[in-house]
Amino acid sequence: MSQSAIVTGGAGFIGSHVVDALLAAGSSVTVIDDLSTGEAGRVAAAAQLHELDIVDLPALMAVAEEVKPDAVYHLAAQACVVASVEDPGRDCEVNVRGTLNVLEAAGRFGAPVVFTSTGGALYGDEAPMPTNEERAPAPLSPYGASKWAAEAYVKTWSLSSGIPHAVCRLGNVYGPRQSPHGEAGVVAIFSNHLHEGRAPRLFGQGKPTRDYVYVEDVVRALLAATGKRGTYNIATGVETDVMTIWNELREAAGVDVEPELAELRPGELQHSCLDISLAGRELGWRPEVPIAEGLRKTYAALVEEFERA
Ligand SMILES: NC(=O)c1ccc[n+]([C@@H]2O[C@H](COP(=O)([O-])OP(=O)(O)OC[C@H]3O[C@@H](n4cnc5c(N)ncnc54)[C@H](O)[C@@H]3O)[C@@H](O)[C@H]2O)c1
Repeated sequence: MSQSAIVTGGAGFIGSHVVDALLAAGSSVTVIDDLSTGEAGRVAAAAQLHELDIVDLPALMAVAEEVKPDAVYHLAAQACVVASVEDPGRDCEVNVRGTLNVLEAAGRFGAPVVFTSTGGALYGDEAPMPTNEERAPAPLSPYGASKWAAEAYVKTWSLSSGIPHAVCRLGNVYGPRQSPHGEAGVVAIFSNHLHEGRAPRLFGQGKPTRDYVYVEDVVRALLAATGKRGTYNIATGVETDVMTIWNELREAAGVDVEPELAELRPGELQHSCLDISLAGRELGWRPEVPIAEGLRKTYAALVEEFERA
């Protein structure tokens, strides 16, 4: 386990859970986050928060010089497909240039980077399902393209520096602290609608499928990938449609609201499901939380968060 870790995007949904797990394991943790979608209140008091943009290399280097990290968890990103379609330039700047900057900062201290890429937005609609890591990416959105480009830098920098950087291609992550205010994150969005008794819009008529994975399972995978050189799908290998997610949450909430059905939005896939056998073999990792249990836990936690807000 690392002594001194940097978590970029540590004020975000997944990053804040990574921070908690590292602290619980005894690491000292520094968070780098520009708070564009993150919240300072999500960062555990025992971690140091530096509010800065990863595109700003001198500022990033100054923090790295202070921390001298022995591991870097790189989650900071422009993580919204719809925003990437609207402003592909900023998406590229944060996801590609920002990742290069993080690699430079980590490389100065020989620290392995664990990079969170996307499994859901990378493989395209033609990929066989479940899709394994060998499948050539064919992203439909600028977000998928920028994550793919960033992966190339991670792999190239790993080969040229000899530092074992890992790429984790995440499925659709859900869990406590997910924001209901973005364009993605159906579990949080639906939970918010149910809590307020409002009808959500189910894009693609509720038929698109995704591979939903509980955030605690993802955090265990990211820690297991530390110091491994490879590219791993991190999901469940189970395909679930949006209507099923809505029905499970509606049951957990005990609320009867009829959703509105709408067309799929630009850049969104019809289907996605990931083959996770490589992570099982090389990281000794497998997901433990079944979707029905994860959705119930998430709904209960999110309702508390909505009521506190
Ligand atoms: N949530 C998912 O289902 C999912 C799926 C696949 C991949 N991912 C990836 O996992 C990572 C975390 O995603 P999340 O769902 O927690 O999203 P999030 O938006 O909650 O977290 C991203 C964090 O990065 C910060 N950030 C954004 N731009 C930044 C910048 N320029 N400089 C510094 N900080 C910046 C944000 O403020 C936020 O705290 C992202 O890299 C995302 O692409 C997420």
